[in-house]
Amino acid sequence: MIILGIETSCDETALALIETRGHEKTADGSGGNAFECRVIQSLVHSQAELHSAYGGVFPTLAKREHGKNIVPLLHKLLIESSVGSEFSEVGPPSGCPRGPTSENLTNSQFRDVLESFRADVERQNPELFESFAGADFLKTVPPIDRIAVTEGPGLEPALWVGINFARMLAALWSVPIIPVDHMEGHILGSLLPSDATNGVWQKLYDAPLPAIALLISGGHTELVKISKLGNYEILGRTKDDAVGEAFDKAARLIGLPYPGGPHLAELSHKAWEEKIPSPVKLPRPMLKSGDLDFSFAGLKTAVLYAVRDAAGQKFPSANHPSTTDHFELSDTFKKGLAHEFEQAVADTLDGKLRMAIERIGAKSIIVGGGVSANHFLRQRFTATAGEYNIPIFMPSRHISGDNALMIAVAGALHHSDAKTPRLIRAHGTKRLGI
Ligand code: KG4
Ligand code: ZN
Repeated sequence: MIILGIETSCDETALALIETRGHEKTADGSGGNAFECRVIQSLVHSQAELHSAYGGVFPTLAKREHGKNIVPLLHKLLIESSVGSEFSEVGPPSGCPRGPTSENLTNSQFRDVLESFRADVERQNPELFESFAGADFLKTVPPIDRIAVTEGPGLEPALWVGINFARMLAALWSVPIIPVDHMEGHILGSLLPSDATNGVWQKLYDAPLPAIALLISGGHTELVKISKLGNYEILGRTKDDAVGEAFDKAARLIGLPYPGGPHLAELSHKAWEEKIPSPVKLPRPMLKSGDLDFSFAGLKTAVLYAVRDAAGQKFPSANHPSTTDHFELSDTFKKGLAHEFEQAVADTLDGKLRMAIERIGAKSIIVGGGVSANHFLRQRFTATAGEYNIPIFMPSRHISGDNALMIAVAGALHHSDAKTPRLIRAHGTKRLGI
């Protein structure tokens, strides 16, 4: 089975193609996670630079950019993966409900599908509609059996672009759609041994269950109990800012560009190399709350106060922190503060992770989401897994951020939930397991 993954929940426009086999191995034909997959191609177009002017993701801009970029990105994906020629030689994978074929649609067939979406999509996503209408390559039907698309959580205007694109492609090529939860995508991304396009068949890591997943991204901070892949229970979540958001806001306060997480991590590393002490002690929020929830807004405010004190001059309010040209901070201070911030985050996440491991008797740890790229945090969680003597699974660096490969893989897990094109809609506040 060949699955096209589509991801547009935030500021990355991403598409991927995978091939899967072995779904038929369980009684219900769902295959569970027994399937094997291989990566055909995975492309990510980041809008981060455009949003940096706003110091965060600007939803209307994200929507417009997805609409402009997603059709050309699909063209690139299909050319680079040459699915038509490659797969027509191989023939249909066994157990595949719809074998790969290459057929052409007539102009009038293409127009009919386009017209059937005009009222719906042209108004909501004019850039997407226009770009789709002018894309002749779409008339050649590629050997794609399922389209997996992120339905949420995320920015609704951005999510709709991916969903509308999936609906139009699905109608054009007569392919069912699998709606995918973005956070489940991050979980599965961490269980994928390799994101390489080397044609190698791989099975997902068989994480011993129950597993505890720590999901840390720009929009989410969650501890999730996994009793079976596809079966999730949120045990704790942030009450305010997500951890990635806290990284980005703290980074902005010390004058780093968006997205600040990786820049702050770099500064912190320098502090460690140069043995720069912390200039202040930041709080470890909710570490003693006794539950598995998080809160990072106070940590951000503590960074604001530290910066204001160090600058020793007038500083914008906590609600409108602006870092540009208002004050001077020494490099040493910035490095030291970045390191202290990273340590405060690590202590907090790690403390709650330990509580969760003990509470559910976790037999493995899965860490997912953009913040899992952080080297210091990875080391910390790895040490914790070692102490509890349980395995830990983290995504390879390339797929720690948002991507469509993880969406396609999550789609493979749920391929039997495929829906007809028109039934799917965006769920900006979707929660795992609900
Ligand atoms: O999962 P993701 O790519 O997008 C969302 O679904 O939100 O996560 C993005 C977040 C951003 O806040 C970014 O600053 C953060 O991940 N991030 C990092 C690092 N790399 C990315 N935070 C800390 N250290 C990093 N190395
Ligand atoms: Zn994400």
